[in-house]
Amino acid sequence: MRALTLLLLIAAALLAGLALAPAADQPTVSTSQYQASKFCGACHKNAYTEWQNSMHSHASDDPFYAEAFIVAGQDTNGLTDTFCSACHTPLGMLSGEIPPADHSKLTAISKQGVFCDFCHTIEGQKGIGNAQYVIAPGKVKRGPYRDGEAMAHEIAYAEFITKPEFCGTCHDVSHPVNGLALETTYTEWSQGPYNTDDPKVRATCQDCHFTPGTGVTKPNPGKASTVSDERPHVSTHDAVGGGGAAALMNETGIMERAVKMLQAAAQIALVLPEGATAGQAATVKVAVTNVGAGHSIPTGVTELRDMWLEVIVTDAAGKQVFASGELDAAGEITAGAVKYGVVVADAAGQPTPKFWLAASHVSDHRIPPKQTVTETYEAPIPAGVAGPLTVKARLRYRAASPALLRLLMGPDEKRTLPITDMATAQGELKVLQ
Ligand code: HEC
Ligand code: HEC
Ligand code: HEC
Ligand code: HEC
Ligand code: HEC
Repeated sequence: MRALTLLLLIAAALLAGLALAPAADQPTVSTSQYQASKFCGACHKNAYTEWQNSMHSHASDDPFYAEAFIVAGQDTNGLTDTFCSACHTPLGMLSGEIPPADHSKLTAISKQGVFCDFCHTIEGQKGIGNAQYVIAPGKVKRGPYRDGEAMAHEIAYAEFITKPEFCGTCHDVSHPVNGLALETTYTEWSQGPYNTDDPKVRATCQDCHFTPGTGVTKPNPGKASTVSDERPHVSTHDAVGGGGAAALMNETGIMERAVKMLQAAAQIALVLPEGATAGQAATVKVAVTNVGAGHSIPTGVTELRDMWLEVIVTDAAGKQVFASGELDAAGEITAGAVKYGVVVADAAGQPTPKFWLAASHVSDHRIPPKQTVTETYEAPIPAGVAGPLTVKARLRYRAASPALLRLLMGPDEKRTLPITDMATAQGELKVLQ
């Protein structure tokens, strides 16, 4: 099965006559053309601390990514080596330190993942997604001010870095061989309600993820460096969403911020009937609304994520009479639960979380920005049950399941990722005997 997939991948790549590197036509660079983030941090103290508290600083050394990257290379005979690295270890890819995929040749600066000097010397893009950045490493740092001045480096105003398209360079991923959409955060934003000219509604990626709160927290007055004057607005650099595999690195700062972001994203409401009749099914509805994310929930690599609804009905004595979406003894979500995200299948038609093997979409259940999706449960109510019944619903999230961690990180992996309750709701149901 795997050999077939691999053959198909290679055949398709040969037919298309392309290399898998999205940025293969980028100039080769030397790591000495870039400056380490610590150097920038000498003056840009806040940005440095915040960036260390973001997954951008871990894009390369994130163990979940690093192991998935090795597995992807094994599955595709190394075809994904430069592809994945172009976003996760951009300097490692551009400087030719990858392959090998085990990161053994990476220099300290390449290990910094998506780092200060990499973002601030991006000049533009050739198109959205798949790392189509245009780089211009060197003394000129590009930023949002028209009047900045510094001794340490030259400055150029760059409208591009203030725009969602800048983020879309990496936050939109399609399969390099068959073009299948895999990660569509930018596209979801651009097709959604926040992409409007109305300044009261418009919110960019930077507005939510490069400001201190969970939504648009602008203006945020402060100093852009320790050696410059106060400005009406400076950005924060702790871009966090669900927090990814931060828990595997004991990054408590990222995890705390992720909980706040996740809880700002969604609300749920129960829609219950007048009462339930013992011995019959009660129709319980849960309305889930994406109130706070500028894109779908979940977004990004939803093939890997778990976002799901748990609904539990108990009788007057607290005994469970119905459950959906609870965890089994191994910590896996029980069958039949309502799950959100995209499911892809490989060339043999088998559903797989390994999005690098994706050949088709099986299902897509995401909640677009500002939209509501209503789920319906038919809960059988046992005869003779003691009412009233309590109905509890939770919208839950974790970056990956224990089974997926073992699949990508090895069968001995014992660590698990924390579950966050994004939203909860509770209601009562009278029982008619
Ligand atoms: C993922 C790309 C990215 C990385 C990595 C990054 N920045 Fe930024 N930076 C931005 C964006 C985007 C803005 C402008 C945000 C806006 O328009 O509000 C910005 C703004 C700035 C500014 C202007 C002042 C301010 O805070 O608004 C400075 C200075 C700065 N960054 C320095 C740094 C330093 C130092 C690092 C590393 C510690 C860093 N950046 C890492 C994207 C990045
Ligand atoms: C010796 C101090 C110092 C160091 C080191 C330093 N900067 Fe700056 N930088 C400044 C000052 C001062 C400003 C101007 C701030 C202002 O105008 O409010 C600035 C401004 C910026 C801006 C905003 C540009 C604009 O006008 O929009 C960016 C982006 C930036 N620096 C990135 C970096 C990066 C990346 C590094 C590391 C490679 C770095 N800086 C290292 C002092 C420094
Ligand atoms: C050079 C590529 C690149 C650019 C440009 C970039 N990102 Fe990222 N970003 C990444 C990668 C790779 C990760 C995932 C790191 C990981 O978890 O291993 C990431 C992670 C994130 C996360 C954290 C997700 C989580 O799970 O918590 C947020 C939020 C984010 N980026 C927002 C932004 C925004 C906003 C911009 C534009 C201002 C931006 N990024 C620009 C590559 C990039
Ligand atoms: C075009 C840019 C891009 C490419 C190419 C890319 N990624 Fe990513 N990757 C991202 C971004 C952005 C995120 C963060 C999105 C999110 O949090 O959902 C991410 C997140 C991840 C995560 C989750 C990390 C965590 O901590 O939860 C894994 C694992 C991952 N990518 C593996 C890969 C592998 C393996 C490949 C190659 C087959 C690859 N990526 C190719 C941009 C990219
Ligand atoms: C209106 C505010 C808002 C805007 C605009 C916004 N986001 Fe988010 N974003 C959020 C919230 C809240 C979350 C947490 C919910 C979640 O993880 O799905 C989040 C989560 C994320 C994640 C983490 C996904 C994961 O793995 O759980 C990434 C990556 C991300 N955003 C990137 C972006 C990019 C790129 C843009 C612009 C194209 C953007 N965001 C625009 C609010 C926003």
